[in-house]
Amino acid sequence: MKLAIVGGGSTYTPELIDGFARLREVLPIDEVVLVDPDEQRLALVAGMSQRMLAHAGHPGRVVGTTDLVAGVADADAVLIQLRIGGQHARHADETWPHEVDCIGQETTGPGGLAKALRTVPVVLRIADVVREHAKPDAWIVDFTNPVGIVTRALLEAGHRAVGLCNVAIGFQRRFASVFGVEHDRVSLGHVGLNHLTWERSVQVDGRDELPGLLRDRLGELAGDVHLAPELIAQLGVLPSYYLRYFYAHDEVLREQRSSPTRAEAVQAIERELLDLYADASQREKPAALEGRGGAFYSEAAIELLAAMRDGTSRSRVVNLRNDGVMPFLPDDHVIEVPAVFRDGRFTAEPVAPLPDDIWGLIASVAGYERLALDAAVHGGRDRVLRAMRAHPLVLQHDRAERLTDLLLAENERFLEWA
Ligand code: G6P
Ligand code: MN
Ligand code: MN
Repeated sequence: MKLAIVGGGSTYTPELIDGFARLREVLPIDEVVLVDPDEQRLALVAGMSQRMLAHAGHPGRVVGTTDLVAGVADADAVLIQLRIGGQHARHADETWPHEVDCIGQETTGPGGLAKALRTVPVVLRIADVVREHAKPDAWIVDFTNPVGIVTRALLEAGHRAVGLCNVAIGFQRRFASVFGVEHDRVSLGHVGLNHLTWERSVQVDGRDELPGLLRDRLGELAGDVHLAPELIAQLGVLPSYYLRYFYAHDEVLREQRSSPTRAEAVQAIERELLDLYADASQREKPAALEGRGGAFYSEAAIELLAAMRDGTSRSRVVNLRNDGVMPFLPDDHVIEVPAVFRDGRFTAEPVAPLPDDIWGLIASVAGYERLALDAAVHGGRDRVLRAMRAHPLVLQHDRAERLTDLLLAENERFLEWA
């Protein structure tokens, strides 16, 4: 099997490679092609990756290339994990919204809109190359944020794509360790949009353990997601930590104003990682990689690719078309729920009706996401303003105007139409 990784020069790539080495029985890989425009990074990351596979006795080979066409040629699957503008652009996304008293985050709120505008056109161009040069039945697995919007862009353009995030697998692994069971025995009632999700049940061998968890481990779980225990107790479901940007917006804003950005922290981790990757004696995944947010990213990707290859029926959380699963959203919206891969396609598990506060927030963010995609595809200040105002963290017209001006000033060089 040939796998192409677009954005393969990411310092995250050795996380994936470590998974290929550990899970080689699950997913037999012959060739991994890392595609990236940054030659220097590519050389370091490809070198490290090849040493890791060899050290683990894995027969696969790793190749790095700046040539997208050659990289995806005849690939069986293509993973897209890129970040337009790198950590530099992310730092901007994490700071300019502060001028309007709004949190700065790379996928949620105004920063997420900026990221969508920078990213969607690039991913769509890459996907066209995949359609032309990869194997005819190749799937695109999208890790590129904002995953919900990017996946919908791909599906609307007719690509065979599925979106993936590590939030759900993180909860699954966490609960498996709480109960001391194999992770395969834990399944989640995970529901929402990418980075806007709640766990409504935690089934262990088919029995819902969430009520007991909320009773016995409320403080611990609240600490995990950085939210007030009282809030979680009242909701009766467990929000992901991304809900903190909504439920604790002002608190997050205060924290952000008095600490370095996540982009700055990641830049420091990346410098350390790249030094390690440059050291030919390094053959194993460095511990410093744990400092990144992508825990279990490799296992999520590998289990999904394996399920798609073998057509196994176990359900996994992915980003896919709604098609009536949440009746208050359009069919073509992209949602994040458990789904099974069967007969060459993903089918979502049914979702029981949601409480009013939760569906209301999902619907509001979905409205924003649709306008954000429209702005990303068609461009123009008016579309950006409309999307900005629709975001529930913005809503007021004058704030939306100011945020739009800030976004455009910071991102002009990334936007073809600006
Ligand atoms: C989590 C999210 C990803 C995001 C990452 C950021 O894994 O699910 O979508 O890219 O965090 O991690 P970082 O180390 O870059 O802050
Ligand atoms: Mn994610
Ligand atoms: Mn496993």
